[in-house]
Amino acid sequence: MNISLSINGTTHDLDVDPRTTLLDALRHHLDLTGSKKGCDHGQCGACTVMVNGRRINSCLALAVMHEGDDITTIEGLGSPEAMSPMQEAFVGHDGFQCGYCTPGQIVSATAMLSELKEGWPSHVSDDLVSAPKMSRDEIAERMSGNLCRCSAYPGIVAAIQDTAD
Ligand code: FES
Repeated sequence: MNISLSINGTTHDLDVDPRTTLLDALRHHLDLTGSKKGCDHGQCGACTVMVNGRRINSCLALAVMHEGDDITTIEGLGSPEAMSPMQEAFVGHDGFQCGYCTPGQIVSATAMLSELKEGWPSHVSDDLVSAPKMSRDEIAERMSGNLCRCSAYPGIVAAIQDTAD
């Protein structure tokens, strides 16, 4: 089946089996291997990508469902030469150990902050929107879909808190 996906601002034409997940399309058809396969069952968050600004588990989505959507992967957020603020914060706070879950954590955290800002009433000033104050517990709750087997949670939460402030 021929489909066309918009990923990180580039359109890709693919020939995939209709049962191909978005995660497998990214990793196996497009060589975008930043999104990881941990559980393949929607439980770990290692495969998190953004679709139209919202985070999803790409292992649970069929690639064919996302024609016409704006898909962002970890590769689209930054590069080693030009990291995003969230990527820099993860490095600065040692928000990882083995690193396997890190792309999903960073994409999820980036989308989570974006979702929060969008959720503010329109009369709230940009200053407040850009500075959602969250407790460590709130961040942990909002990031509960992303597991870290190494338990690097203190650094992950600190990185997100730093980026949000
Ligand atoms: Fe998708 Fe674990 S690989 S949630």
